[in-house]
Formats: sequence, structure tokens, C-alpha cells
Amino acid sequence: MTRLHDADASSRRARRALERAMRDDAHSSRDARDDDADRASSPRLYAKSMEDLLTARAHNPAPTTVPPPIAALAGNIGERHVLVFVGLPLRGKRTIALRLTRYLRFFHGARCRAFDVAYAGHRGDAATSSLVNNLRDFLRSGDAITDVCTEYGIEAKEASAKHVDSGRVAVVYSSDASATFYETWSGTSKERRRAILKELEDLERDLDGTGPRRMKVKTIFIETTLTREELVEEVLAQRVARDARNGRVREDEIEAAKESWRRRLDEYRKLYVTLQEDGSEDDLSYIKLYNYGERVQTNKMRAYLPQRIVQFLTATHPTAHKIYLCRHGESEYNVTGRLGGNSGITAKGVAFSEILSRFALEKICGMERRDDDGDDGEGRWCETPRTVRARLWTSSLLRTIATAANIEHPTVHNGEWEQMSPRVYRNIDEIFAGDCEGMTPEEIVEKNPQAAYLRSMDKIGYRYPRGESYFDLISRLEPCIQEMESYTEPVLIVSHQAILRLIFAYLTGCARERAPGMNTFSQNVIYEITLDASCEDLITEDVDRFPSYVVAHDFRDAVAALAVVDDPDERRRFVRDLDLDAARASS
Ligand code: F6P
Repeated sequence: MTRLHDADASSRRARRALERAMRDDAHSSRDARDDDADRASSPRLYAKSMEDLLTARAHNPAPTTVPPPIAALAGNIGERHVLVFVGLPLRGKRTIALRLTRYLRFFHGARCRAFDVAYAGHRGDAATSSLVNNLRDFLRSGDAITDVCTEYGIEAKEASAKHVDSGRVAVVYSSDASATFYETWSGTSKERRRAILKELEDLERDLDGTGPRRMKVKTIFIETTLTREELVEEVLAQRVARDARNGRVREDEIEAAKESWRRRLDEYRKLYVTLQEDGSEDDLSYIKLYNYGERVQTNKMRAYLPQRIVQFLTATHPTAHKIYLCRHGESEYNVTGRLGGNSGITAKGVAFSEILSRFALEKICGMERRDDDGDDGEGRWCETPRTVRARLWTSSLLRTIATAANIEHPTVHNGEWEQMSPRVYRNIDEIFAGDCEGMTPEEIVEKNPQAAYLRSMDKIGYRYPRGESYFDLISRLEPCIQEMESYTEPVLIVSHQAILRLIFAYLTGCARERAPGMNTFSQNVIYEITLDASCEDLITEDVDRFPSYVVAHDFRDAVAALAVVDDPDERRRFVRDLDLDAARASS
């Protein structure tokens, strides 16, 4: 038995881990991208900073070798799932499939990978076999145990005494449902769906090459149906815009390309066979989505992960919408470098809140301030042809509520909607630093060097004494993310550094392990993220840069200038005359 008995060995391992972490930080972004690809398919199953707790001691000679499966790390308990998207072309399947993959990785720690039928190799049999081979490689078991053994220096026999396999989820979709319509894995007919099940059954028998079946592969079909033509047109517009960006369609060919799609769609409509409710497909597990989450029908979807999948699919949609993220204005604790707490905002914080109030109504809601005589000025907020309904979230802490306090709430659309109606979510409160709340980082090093050291080596997994870790934040963020996914209106989220790192990492597809190291969030900057089908092509792995669908509106200079103005009239004029567009900078 290779248990590590002495404290020296444990601290040697901890030192090695720190060195590794430091080497990781120095990685070039290219290496980082490669790492991310690996991590994304192989998320960590444990918090590194718990390593010493897994070591045999006099009082605990037979410790558990793997820490408890906290929610964000639990994966899906050793199961193999294959989720197959079916449906007509232009149903937003690709976008939804990729979002689901991202969600399962980020919030459930699932080893999840997307497989594109359109890129499975060549067409016909060869394509099928290369897709199936790739699936087999991915679904094969054993890696989880190997990872744990390598990390802890323990024997495989011992590691397998505790089941650490968190399962796998393969998401199969086609990025070109028109080109792959007749392929088996398009699942466009009853026969094709049966053929997929047969392929997976054969694969299951053969997965680990040990003879008897040990692996249970659960197949779930997900059918997307759009009954509203405007939704189809929107997917079509996004699809053609993507082709134009990739150089597959010229600008002057866009209308012709759309027409050609519409003609092909009419043909496919005659041939496509929906998942049947006449009893012939009742043995399948499936989810039918009508107009995304408008109506959802499920069949044989009882287990935990399938139910989470249904919940997520009920919320998500590929309709373009915007998320605006900003940190609260400067707080009293920020000035002294203290962590956490519930302090108010400073003069700079108030200056940011005044600028944010104009930005929110003008740029996010698309409204204009007009005097009663119709002149632009300091009068009421009025609707314009650009006006959209918009939402506002803050945390429950004073500094975010105060930052949003200057935002007005005019009603629009015949009084049906109150703009930026304040919604307070405790789930987006800042990380709770427990015993370290109110301390500066230097004080933590001095008073609790172990906390400082363990956190520096494992920022995502380290839980402050009597406080939270980033993994804890991931767990409490999930309900908000589901809610956010369901919106089509823009939402402004005024929150805190740690929380925004995670939301941003999730939205931009960055591996969650990299989120705590992000230095990209500045105070007094509003980050505008446009989510649509094309975002999935532009997933970021480089945490120091934004993908092109993120725009940073930088008000740092304006806040510094406004904070020192005392006269209320002058302040109003300053905010009114500020050039909001000049602050717009894609980073
Ligand atoms: O310093 C501001 C702050 O929001 C603290 O309240 C919080 O503890 C910290 O940032 C989170 O950032 P990090 O995880 O890098 O310590």
C-alpha cells in the first residue's frame, strides 16, 4: 500500500504542486489553450488544497484517498451518456448542443465533448465509423483513476477502492444538418435512430475490450422543432451571417443563399420523420423541444443528469441577446484593500453609479432623455424606435445596490414593463472569505499563512476557513445562470470580482479552472457580451484577452474626473455631455 505517511512527504508534494501551478501561470497562451482542451474533457475530480487531508496520520491511518464529491466536482456518477440532436436544418441545434456541452462541463464537472457529424471525416460509411471510433475513445473508462493516481502517487488498486469515475457525456450534433441529412447520425428517420442505438449497443459491448458488459451507455435523443417561422428566419439570418464571415458566402449572395436554404428546407420537411408518439419509439429516452423551451415533452428521462439536461434545455435558446457585466463602484474596503465585508461606496463609486445610470437607460434600454418641449436634455426618459425591455440584477451587498441606485425605472410599451426593475440575488454575492473577511491579502499571509499558501496553489478548490471556494460559487451560481439563459432581454449584472470571473468564463467558454486567475475585470468598465449562434465559434481560452463579441466600455478616466466635482449641476452636465461611444473599446 503506497500511502504517504509523513508530513514531509505531504509538504514536498504540496511544494511540487505550487511549483507546477507557478509553471502553469508562466505558460504561453498557446500552451494554455492546449491545456484547456485537455482539462475541458478531463475536469479535476478533487480540490488540490485538500491533499494533506488525504494523507494517513496517526489519528486517521486509513484516510479516504479522494475528497468528498462536492456538487461542482461530482460529475455524473460514472454513467456514459450520448446525447444526439435531431431535427430539421435551421433549428439552432448546433448552438444549443454547444451551450449544453459548456453547461455540463462548467456546472456539473462532467467530462463532456461535442461531436460534429459534419466533421466526422468523409461522408458515408467512413464518416460513421470515424465518428463511432471517436465516441469509443472518449467513452472508454479508466482515465479518471489514472489521473488520481498520477496526482497523488497512489496505487491504482487503492484508487479504484473508491469509485472516482465521474462519467462521460458525448453530445452529437451536426453543424451542417442539410449536408448530413441522409447520414445515419443525423437521426432524421425512425430507421436512422434505430441504427444509432444499434451502433451504440455494439460499442457498449466492446468498450473496454474485457468481454462482459461493464459500461452502461444511455442514449438520449433531443429533437428541436420550430413552429414559428420568425424563429426559423432568425436562425437562417445567423447561419448566413456566419457563412459570410467565414468567406463561404459573399455579401451580395446573402439573399440568394437564404432563398436556397428555404427551398432545401421545404424538401427536407417532406422527408423528416419526427420522434414518434404512436408507440413505436416509446422505448427511447428523448426530449422534444418546441420553439426552444416554450413547450417541452420528455420520455424516459427520470435520472438526475437527464433531468438537469431537460431543465437547461428548457431555458436556453440561440436568439441573440446581450449580457452586460460590471463590478460595483469603488467600495470603502477597496480603498484599504480589505476583502469581502459589506461596506458602502466611495466618491469614485458614486461617480461610476451616475455614469452607469445614463449608460443603462441610453445604451442598454435604447431610450433618450427629452425635455417636455422635445429637446434633448435632462428631462424624462422617453422611448425611441431602438427601445428594448431590459433587466437589472445586483447582489444583496450594499456596494452593488448603491452602484445601481441611480438607475431610473421608467415604464415602456404602454406601461407593461418597468425598465431595469431592480432584482437582488444573493447567489451573486461576492465570495465569502470566512475567517479572512475584512483582512487584506498581506494580513492573511501574516495571520494565516497556510490559508494564503493553499489558496495560491489551488485558487478554485481552496475553501476559506468557514468561508467559500470558487467551486462553492459555481454551485450557487447555477440557478442564476439557468435564469439568465432563458432571457431574451438584455440584462445588466452589477456584481463582484470573483462572481463576474465565473460568469464571464462560462459565457465565453473558458475552462473554469482558469477563471480565478482572470485579471481582465476592472472596476468602472462595463463589459457587453452579445450571445448568438456565432459565439460558439469564438470560444476564448486566453483569459487575458476578450473574444470579439465582448466590448469593454471603459469609464475609468471619466470616473476619476467626475469624482472630484462637487457642484451637483456641474456633475449632471458632466454625465449628460459624456461621450458614451468614445468609451467603447473592443479589447
Ligand atoms: O478585493 C475585492 C474582492 O471582491 C474581494 O471582496 C474578494 O475576496 C476578492 O475580490 C475575490 O478575488 P480573489 O478571488 O482574486 O481573491
